[in-house]
Amino acid sequence: MAAPSISLSLSFFLFLSFHFSSSFSKIPLPFSSSLLLRPQNPPIDSLRHYRTNFFTQILDHFNFNPISYQSFQQRYLINHTYWGGAAENAPIFVYTGNEGNIEWFAQNTGFLLQSAPHFRALVVFIEHRFYGKSIPFGGDEDVANSNSSTLGFLSSTQALADYATLITDLKKNLSAIDSPVLVFGGSYGGMLAAWFRLKYPHVAIGALASSAPILQLENITSPYAFTNIITQDFKSESQNCYRVIKGSWQQIDITSNQPGGPQLLRNSFKFCKEAESESIKNWLYTAILYTAMTDYPTPSNFLNPLPAYPVKQMCKAIDDPTTGNDTFAKLYGAANVYYNYTGTATCFDLDDDSDPHDLGDWTWQACTEMILPTGGNTEESIFPASTWHFADRLHFCKRFYNVEPRRIWIPTHYGGHNIERVLKRFGSNIIFFNGLRDPWSGGGVLKNISSTIIAIVAKEGAHHVDLRFSNPEDPKWLKDVRKQELNIIQDWLSQYYLDLAQY
Ligand SMILES: *[C@@H]1O[C@H](CO)[C@@H](O)[C@H](O)[C@H]1NC(C)=O
Ligand SMILES: *[C@@H]1O[C@H](CO)[C@@H](O)[C@H](O)[C@H]1NC(C)=O
Ligand SMILES: *[C@@H]1O[C@H](CO)[C@@H](O)[C@H](O)[C@H]1NC(C)=O
Ligand SMILES: *[C@@H]1O[C@H](CO)[C@@H](O)[C@H](O)[C@H]1NC(C)=O
Ligand SMILES: *[C@@H]1O[C@H](CO)[C@@H](O)[C@H](O)[C@H]1NC(C)=O
Ligand SMILES: *[C@@H]1O[C@H](CO)[C@@H](O)[C@H](O)[C@H]1NC(C)=O
Ligand SMILES: *[C@@H]1O[C@H](CO)[C@@H](O)[C@H](O)[C@H]1NC(C)=O
Repeated sequence: MAAPSISLSLSFFLFLSFHFSSSFSKIPLPFSSSLLLRPQNPPIDSLRHYRTNFFTQILDHFNFNPISYQSFQQRYLINHTYWGGAAENAPIFVYTGNEGNIEWFAQNTGFLLQSAPHFRALVVFIEHRFYGKSIPFGGDEDVANSNSSTLGFLSSTQALADYATLITDLKKNLSAIDSPVLVFGGSYGGMLAAWFRLKYPHVAIGALASSAPILQLENITSPYAFTNIITQDFKSESQNCYRVIKGSWQQIDITSNQPGGPQLLRNSFKFCKEAESESIKNWLYTAILYTAMTDYPTPSNFLNPLPAYPVKQMCKAIDDPTTGNDTFAKLYGAANVYYNYTGTATCFDLDDDSDPHDLGDWTWQACTEMILPTGGNTEESIFPASTWHFADRLHFCKRFYNVEPRRIWIPTHYGGHNIERVLKRFGSNIIFFNGLRDPWSGGGVLKNISSTIIAIVAKEGAHHVDLRFSNPEDPKWLKDVRKQELNIIQDWLSQYYLDLAQY
C-alpha cells in the first residue's frame, strides 16, 4: 500500500500533515511531517542493552475462526542482568510497546533499566503487533498492510492480549509465576499500560502511564487543547516569537503566489527544490509541533537530534535582532533547530517521506478506533484558525481504507467519561505522569483519583520526559518526579509481597 497522504493530524509522531488543505485530492505530502527523522540520525544500537527474542503469537485472540489460529513472530527485548530471579520472586518490568520499532522506544526509555538494579528487576520491552519486526502474515509487510482484511488484526485490544499472553508464557518459562509484573509506557504505549492494568489486573500489579492521553477523546477533551498548549509554550518564551510564527503562514501564502516567490522561498529556506506553500507550512508546522512535544531539558535524539530546551532555542533564532524584519530568515533559523541541529543538512527535502521508525500503520489505527481529536485551532493559536471535524476523518478513512472509524469504541471499551468518578471505586496502582509543556497533556489524567491512582504533573515537563535515560544535567524537578515514581512503585511491591506471604 502506498504511503498515506492526508491532511489530518492523526498521531503522536506522524502528524500526517496539516489543515492547510481541506481537499483530499491535493494533499500536501505523505508523512510530510515524517521529516521527523532524517538519515542524520545514528543507527539504533539496541544490542547494547538487550537480547532480542521472538515469541510465537496468535493472530486473533478473540475469535475461533480458522484464520484466528494463524501465528506470527512477535519481537521482544530482554535484559536479565539485574534480575533477582524466580526464587526470590523478583519483579518484572515490562514496557508495553507503542506504534513503532521497539528498539527505538527502548533507546529512548531508560527508566526501567536504570531502576532495575534497585528492584532487582527483569526488564522486557515488547513490540506492538504490525510494527517493527512483529509483522503478522509471515512477516511480510506488504501482505500485512494489504487491506482491511489483513490490517483488521491491528488493534489496541489485540495488542493488550498479546502482552498478556507473552508475559504469562515468559513467566512460565522462567518458573516465575509469583514474580510481580509492572507495566510501563509512554504516549500511546502509556495508554496501553494504563488500560492493561485495568483489563489485566491479574497479570500486572501496577502501571506507570507516562504522557498517556487516555482522555484525548471526543466530547471529553476539547480539540483545541492540543494547539493551545503549543501556543502557550512559544508564548512563554516570548510574545515576539509567538507573533512572528503566527504571522508567517499568511506571508508564506502571499509570497508563494508572487512572481519569483517560490524561488525566493526556496532560497530563504534552503529547500532542495521549489515547494508549494502547503508543503512549506507543513514542514514548519511539524518542526514547531515536535519541538514543543520534545522540549526536553537536556539534548536528545528522539524524533530528531535536538539541543536542550529546543523551544527556547527556536525562539532565540526568531528573536535574533540581526535578522531585523526578515520573517523568513527568522523562520529558517528556527527550522534549523529542529531539522539541522547536527549541522549536516545540505538542503531540506520536503518530498522525503521516509518512515525510519516504522510508524506508518498508525494511520490504520487512527481510522478504526483511535480518534484523538487534536486538530482545532482558535483565533489565538500559533497556527491558523481551524475546526476539527469528525467528518474529515471519516471521509479520509473511507477513501483510504474503505473503513469507517468506530467513533465511540475507545470510551465504550476502556472508559473515559467521568473517569474520576469511575476509577475512584475501581482500579488501583496507576501513575499518570504528564508534563504540561507537552501538547498531549491536555488529554491526560491531571488529578489524583484515589490513593493509588496518582497523577504526577510537572509544569516544566514534555512528552514522557520521566521515562528517558537520566542525565547528570537533569533539573531537580525531573529527579524529584522519578524519585516519587520509584517510591510509589516500591509501595506497590511491598504491598504485593505482604499479600504473597499471606495468601
Ligand atoms: C543490561 O543492561 C546493562 C546496562 O546497560 C548492561 O550493562 C548489560 O550488559 C545488559 N545486559 C544484557 C544481557 O544485555
Ligand atoms: C486483501 O489482501 C489479501 C492479502 O494480500 C488478499 O488475499 C485479498 O484478496 C485482499 N482483499 C481484497 C478485498 O482486496
Ligand atoms: C517459552 O519457551 C518456549 C519453549 O522453548 C518457547 O517456544 C517460547 O517462545 C518461550 N516464551 C517466550 C515468551 O519467550
Ligand atoms: C521593520 O518594520 C518596521 C514596521 O514595518 C519599520 O518601521 C522598520 O523600519 C523596519 N526595520 C527594518 C530594519 O527594516
Ligand atoms: C545546516 O547547518 C550547517 C552548519 O550550521 C550549515 O552550514 C548548513 O547550511 C545548514 N543546512 C541547511 C540546509 O540550512
Ligand atoms: C459528541 O457530542 C456531539 C453533540 O452532542 C454528538 O453529535 C457526537 O456524536 C458526540 N461524539 C461522540 C464520540 O460521542
Ligand atoms: C497526587 O498525590 C500525590 C501524593 O500522593 C502528590 O504528590 C501529587 O502532587 C498529587 N497530584 C496532584 C495533581 O495533585
